[in-house]
Amino acid sequence: MRRLKSIHGEWSSRGAFFLAATGAVVGLGNIWKYPYIAGQNGGGAFLLLYLLCLLLVGMPLRMAELLLGRRGRGSPPTAFHELAVDEGRWRAWAAVGVFAVVASLLILSFYSVIAGWGLDYMWMSAVGSYRGQSESAIQGVFSALNDEPWRLLMWHTLFMGMTTAVVSRGVQRGLERVARVFVPVLFILLAVLGLYAAVEGNIVKAVHYLFTPDFAALNGKVVLIALGHAFFTLSLGMGTMMAYGAYLPEDVSILRVSVWIVLADTLAALLSGIAIYPLVFAGNLPAMQGPGLIFTVLPTAYGHAKYGDAFGALFYMALVLAAWTSAIALLEPGVAWLVERGMARAKAAMVLGSVVWFLGLMTILSFNIWSGVLILGHSWFGLLDMLTGNLMLPVIGLLIVVFVGWMVAERSLRQELQFRRGVFRIWLSVLRYVTPVAMLLVLLNALGLIRGAYDGSKPISAG
Ligand code: PFF
Repeated sequence: MRRLKSIHGEWSSRGAFFLAATGAVVGLGNIWKYPYIAGQNGGGAFLLLYLLCLLLVGMPLRMAELLLGRRGRGSPPTAFHELAVDEGRWRAWAAVGVFAVVASLLILSFYSVIAGWGLDYMWMSAVGSYRGQSESAIQGVFSALNDEPWRLLMWHTLFMGMTTAVVSRGVQRGLERVARVFVPVLFILLAVLGLYAAVEGNIVKAVHYLFTPDFAALNGKVVLIALGHAFFTLSLGMGTMMAYGAYLPEDVSILRVSVWIVLADTLAALLSGIAIYPLVFAGNLPAMQGPGLIFTVLPTAYGHAKYGDAFGALFYMALVLAAWTSAIALLEPGVAWLVERGMARAKAAMVLGSVVWFLGLMTILSFNIWSGVLILGHSWFGLLDMLTGNLMLPVIGLLIVVFVGWMVAERSLRQELQFRRGVFRIWLSVLRYVTPVAMLLVLLNALGLIRGAYDGSKPISAG
């Protein structure tokens, strides 16, 4: 096939791509979700199961997305279109790319509001507002924050401004530059916070909670939790990896770089568990799940720990950094698409940044003034969360697997991946037969069609 070139430029090196892609995958899911789902579902046994899911669902799909992007050399709609034409397939496959762009923008609209909570908590920790407070008092602070639309709006605007500014500067001057500085900073922060918690908190109990294998806790439901999380944590099904793959130089091995990204993502999740639980257990606080863990229990724990204000502020800074590099990845596919359609990058970033900002207003209002307004029984935030996490992402992921696994010629795949024969056959068999079944299970579970299963793919309000 003709080798296309990305009009957006390329990552300047493999290391730059690795940092940018790691920034894109490490997000809220790593920082608060992994620790509590692992703790509650078998500790070390869950970790093993989760690694297996990463290997069987995460890796093959991640490689499929990167391959699709690099082969098509463009945003998800363009990449799908180019490949469909080359492979003599139906051009309507481009619709999957459009669907992915829409999903990523919808997600960004509430991801930004949640990141705004992080900014507020960073500020409040730094000025010592949580010092010595009880858990119920901090619960009150959290409710009060959500009752103030203007305050949420201020943080949301700041966060969207930070995200739009980076994307408007392009691949090398924007995305790459931020990732080169802030992804290492994020990992250093997590390591320092882990060390601090190990010294100041109850590390023995935390390690026991997170890592002692309890194989009796594993069952079908836990498998679905692990699968759903593997899918979410690697940011799959949103086109972000396709967009990032489009800027990937020819000579970078997709397999090798994928392994490193998965390892970095897992490391971030484990470090985060070590940063959180020793403090929670030392304060005899409940090992809660969902937003309560980070926005109620943890500030209480920091509020009673030595130098807790400073370290608490650093924790929320890590949360915001993780969310920021993910938000950049959520905005990029849409902006790249507009650029391919002839718009200047800065303008495209402004247009989509504003659309997302506006959609974010709805999320903000759904926490307060419109809290009584229900659509299909959900608040706007709940509806978006459900629609994107439970429906769009698994469906898009499944379509990507079907396209790459069954519609693209083996010759093209082999040319792109440059695997040895045996490795290629294993990859393709897993992608064709194992991954789709796993994805279908995630989808059925998320839709509530598997009875009694936990909703593992819910992005934000899970738990
Ligand atoms: N992978 C992120 C997390 O674990 O929090 C969530 C996410 C971020 C998904 C960015 C998709 C994305 F483009």
